[in-house]
Amino acid sequence: MGKSFDIGLERLTGIGVPGDGQPQEGGIKPPLHDAGRPFSDQGKQEADAVGSTFYLETFGCQMNDHDSEKVAGVLLGRGYRQVETPEAAKVILYNTCSIREKAAQKVFSRLGELRPADEQDGKCFNTEDTEKEHRVHRDGRVLEKNHPSLRKIVNAGGGKIIGVLGCVAQQEGEEIFERAPWVSLVCGSASYRKLPQLIAELEAGNRRVTGLDTDTDETFETEITRRDNPWRAYLTIIEGCDKACSYCVVPFTRGPERSRGSASILEEVRQLADAGYSEVQLLGQTVNSYADPSARNMRFSELLAAVAEVGGIRRVRFTTSHPRDFGKDIVEAIEAHPTICDNVHLPVQSGSTAVLRAMARTYSREEYLEKIALMKAARRPISITTDMIVGFPGETEKDFEETLTLLDEVQYDSVFAFKYSPRPNTPSLKMADAIPEEEKGRRLGILMDRQREIQRVRNEKLVGETFEVLVDGKSRRENQWSGHTSSNRVMNFTSPEQELLGDYVQVKVSSAMPNSLVGEMVGR
Ligand code: 5AD
Ligand code: SF4
Repeated sequence: MGKSFDIGLERLTGIGVPGDGQPQEGGIKPPLHDAGRPFSDQGKQEADAVGSTFYLETFGCQMNDHDSEKVAGVLLGRGYRQVETPEAAKVILYNTCSIREKAAQKVFSRLGELRPADEQDGKCFNTEDTEKEHRVHRDGRVLEKNHPSLRKIVNAGGGKIIGVLGCVAQQEGEEIFERAPWVSLVCGSASYRKLPQLIAELEAGNRRVTGLDTDTDETFETEITRRDNPWRAYLTIIEGCDKACSYCVVPFTRGPERSRGSASILEEVRQLADAGYSEVQLLGQTVNSYADPSARNMRFSELLAAVAEVGGIRRVRFTTSHPRDFGKDIVEAIEAHPTICDNVHLPVQSGSTAVLRAMARTYSREEYLEKIALMKAARRPISITTDMIVGFPGETEKDFEETLTLLDEVQYDSVFAFKYSPRPNTPSLKMADAIPEEEKGRRLGILMDRQREIQRVRNEKLVGETFEVLVDGKSRRENQWSGHTSSNRVMNFTSPEQELLGDYVQVKVSSAMPNSLVGEMVGR
């Protein structure tokens, strides 16, 4: 199962990554639907003959989760079989995230695990230090200490294809071959349409292939998307980002904004409904900046309404919205269509207008609060969630205080909070007055405590109320189930029913915690 967009504790600790959040290559471009074309019998036999299996691990946001679903779909369409471990795979792929440094480092530690034993011809080689093993540069610098030796993986299978996809691929490009010469494929998300061709080149014996262009106006659509969640289908409607926030790598790694045609989106939603999906989540780094490239020229709110009207669709979600493009028309669409979930994720990043200006967010605290007021005035309650960055360069104690008062004022139902992480190429890298790590940690802790208390109080007010829940989990404990409300709250509940997965049921809240509700099923 893919990661769900849960309102969980990880959001407060900044571990969970929400989807705010990236560009492509010339050369030969296969027709769009080649990507998902069923594998021919002959091709399938060839693939089977070489034992074509793939392992795919995904880091980061829902956009990456969904990109991985498409990549898996493409590979399955070419006759590959997905396996659970890198050891069992012929092709090992990492779909990576570079939004913060920690996320980006993860892939290099994974790649370190795959380093062949005899890797001496690149820039890195091994040295034995009694039992410990370090990876060192030829000049003697230790690049990675005590990293686990999983060399058997590569040695055991031999001839594996190792690929880096996603934001780190786009950001680091061919540098990855330098750092990990055993990698043979580097491909950013804007070039995924080329993936089948790139993989074919590797299968034909090419040693290294890349897909790194970002100047495309096309989106990566496949007819075969292997969706992880049987009820909730993700659908990218806009890729890339044109916003240029000063701290953010996404415009570099995912390129300029490209929207998918509304007719093609609506057709896919109809197919999803026919296939039994009842919930669709429209995705984009700035989903509400959607600009229909077709003659219909639908606004985002019109598309939202049209998706909500597709028969069989019971829930429509959308993430992530940018405050600048968030208007009354979106709130009106929510009001008019009960199928549009009453949850809006509207990242603010900071409560201080001075910091927002330095971040190039294009709105002030007051302008952001005007958008919040639109939602608060809606005819049905809308649950509001956000992203926050603490410790941006120059953030004073007073600026931070303003972030805290914003929490009080808005009363979010969940907050993803992060310590500012300096990223390559971004304008904020050169900004003065960096905040020490320790101080960032202190501010994050204060923010989390404050928000946890807000959520505790807000959730407690819901005790006694009844909500519709889409059941998406069954506990090992008898009669225990879990699901999500329209507002995207996690609801753990009891029911003696035998089978509920995928059903919509009515649950009455009996107790509340900061990150979830507890209840009892009272009907269908
Ligand atoms: N440092 C910390 N957090 C960041 N985010 C984006 N870039 C950075 C960075 N350099 C956060 C923002 C965004 C979320 C996806 O990740 O809050 O909304
Ligand atoms: Fe979101 Fe700004 Fe990054 Fe675009 S540049 S993905 S709007 S944070």
